[in-house]
Amino acid sequence: MGDGPHAVILAAGQGKRMRSALPKVLHPLGGRPFILYAVEAAQAATGSPPVVVIAPGDARLREVLGDAAICVEQAAPLGTGDALRSVPESQRGPGPVLVLVGDAPLIRAETLERLIAAHASSPRACTLLLGVPTDPSGLGRAVRDADGHVLRIVEERDLPIGEPVPMECNGGIYVFDSAQLWPALDRLTSANAQGEFYLTDVIELLTGPVEAVVAPDPDEFIFINDRRQLAAAEGALRRRTLDALMLSGVTVEDPASTYVDPGVQVGPDSVIHPMTTLSGSTRLGAECEIGPMAVLRDVRAGQRVVIGESRLDDCELGDDVRVGAYCRVRPNTVLASGVELGTHAEVKNSTVGAGTRISHFSCVLDSDVGEAVNIGAGTVTCNYDGEAKFRTTIGNRVFVGTNSTLVAPVRLGDGCYVGAGSFIDHDVPAGALAVGRSRQRNVEGWAARRPVQS
Ligand code: UD1
Ligand code: MG
Repeated sequence: MGDGPHAVILAAGQGKRMRSALPKVLHPLGGRPFILYAVEAAQAATGSPPVVVIAPGDARLREVLGDAAICVEQAAPLGTGDALRSVPESQRGPGPVLVLVGDAPLIRAETLERLIAAHASSPRACTLLLGVPTDPSGLGRAVRDADGHVLRIVEERDLPIGEPVPMECNGGIYVFDSAQLWPALDRLTSANAQGEFYLTDVIELLTGPVEAVVAPDPDEFIFINDRRQLAAAEGALRRRTLDALMLSGVTVEDPASTYVDPGVQVGPDSVIHPMTTLSGSTRLGAECEIGPMAVLRDVRAGQRVVIGESRLDDCELGDDVRVGAYCRVRPNTVLASGVELGTHAEVKNSTVGAGTRISHFSCVLDSDVGEAVNIGAGTVTCNYDGEAKFRTTIGNRVFVGTNSTLVAPVRLGDGCYVGAGSFIDHDVPAGALAVGRSRQRNVEGWAARRPVQS
């Protein structure tokens, strides 16, 4: 372990205030377990994977962290000081130690870098992050001397009654001088309201000045202890993501009703209409127009794609694809460039060639459709016989008339025609016309002879 700063993230607490069977730091924020945000910020600021202190046997957290962190266990949740004390000798290193609480997902890497730089700027025992947040409830408060040095942190529930409450709150994020930190941790006691070993008490055990950096953005001081704070963090993260999108050249008509996960990419000059959700690994090209009321998860789309009030999941769209209103595009679907879906169309596990149109109320399932095909309104590919699924294959430039039923497995050759209302359960050769319906019969004068009802 080198002389540079290395990070330790405390994440072994029980998270009682979440009232959840799921470990606190695994609750999703912007679609991902929220511990990952602090891990990524720490990695960016120090250049190496952080140590994360976890509860014993927390296999789910270990799995989520994977190679992104080095996990060490705290035997019992005896407080933040005891958590840090659980880091073994081998992970302690000689350089400064950046410590973060695990429930601070909105902390920015730049803020951690500022803290590290401030710590290196003059000899000191510790540099910590303070702030004046919108909601200070439950946070430790900083007591400073006339020179601005931090004398101690007092937990809210240990504040002396009747005395003025300091405004500045502790962010739970510190850079410590290694040589002083580790021995001081062994001198902590648990004489406080919670009977825990508080990391904050270590401040008074250090020799040399403890300096503070004030966080510029109150959003960084949203800590997740309960589900109200989880919602507050979600809102703040969303504003941050939307701001970045807008600054990169995307029009978001109504940020208040637009939900975009942090990893989502949208090309410039795209417009996102209200009540739209873009999540997962969604990546859209330039000049797209999405919504209103579109829900896209894991969608990869090219440029100039237009999507109405529709739901799309795990699919790929080429340039200039147009998806009308109330469509559903289900996983494992590729719509090549210029494909158009009319209103109420559904496509699943299918490839659709360039320039093909699938009209309103059509249902194309488990199909391979060629280029420049016209699928008339209300056409259904019947993919299931009650036991197994089968594919429908449609060649290039095929015209399928309205309200046709194509029973898989079936093949429609290039350039063939299917008469409207046909039931097709045999292959159609290229260039043929298939009419799979009973011939119309007109009974002349029938209305006049119709028996009169008494
Ligand atoms: C802590 C700070 C408080 C600060 C606040 C900022 C202490 C005593 N208090 O309070 O001054 O304003 O963070 O968010 O440090 N953890 C363990 N093992 C434990 C207990 C906690 O690993 O035994 C972990 C938790 O998983 C959590 C972090 O440490 O990620 C902080 O614990 P939490 O209980 O949330 O502390 P706060 O009461 O929020
Ligand atoms: Mg907390």
